[in-house]
Amino acid sequence: MLKLLAAEGKRERAMAPRKKLPVVLREITAETLRPVLKLSVSEEQKKFVADNAVSISQAYFCKQAWFRTISVGEKPVGFVMLYIDRKKADYDVWRFMIDQRYQKKGYGTAAMQQIIEFVKGLPRARALYLSHSPGRGNPAPFYKRFGFVHTGKMNEGEKVMKLDLGEEKARP
Ligand SMILES: CC(C)(COP(=O)(O)OP(=O)(O)OC[C@H]1O[C@@H](n2cnc3c(N)ncnc32)[C@H](O)[C@@H]1OP(=O)(O)O)[C@@H](O)C(=O)NCCC(=O)NCCS
Repeated sequence: MLKLLAAEGKRERAMAPRKKLPVVLREITAETLRPVLKLSVSEEQKKFVADNAVSISQAYFCKQAWFRTISVGEKPVGFVMLYIDRKKADYDVWRFMIDQRYQKKGYGTAAMQQIIEFVKGLPRARALYLSHSPGRGNPAPFYKRFGFVHTGKMNEGEKVMKLDLGEEKARP
């Protein structure tokens, strides 16, 4: 009887709709550092983004670096680093990646939507910039979905894109 009840419980759990875990931008902790360092894009994508170890090392020496894990629930699946200069109102996506095992599940989109909302709330935020290496599989089509457009300018061999954020968000 007990066995029967357990089996029934299992079946019900399997049939219940899976609760979707939220995508959250989290500060890196001692616990998440190693998992974040292990996140990686595919071989072909490596020309588009630096290793997270390199990014975090650079952040250590740059006051304007703002970096977070992209986590699904508690699990880190990606990494983002922004360049934030509040005085000059200069805001850039410096690094952005989703580990190859977790791509094409909507996590990149959910993270980018949150990043845009976050930047909109920064002082005199009128635009968000980024740049990407050219070549097959480059992320421009992904960024265009949010309204980023190529400016026609190049920065250290990378194509610059800009997202117009419109009017500054009113702050209380
Ligand atoms: C770009 C990246 C962050 C997107 O993350 P993701 O979680 O896979 O994105 P999503 O699942 O939210 O994708 C949303 C849509 O964009 C599309 N897309 C994602 N990356 C794309 C790319 N490089 N080229 C064309 N389309 C892309 C997806 O196919 C998907 O389309 P669909 O809704 O029609 O299926 C991820 O592919 C990545 O880490 N790439 C390698 C590193 C990189 O290029 N970083 C940017 C540095 S500037």
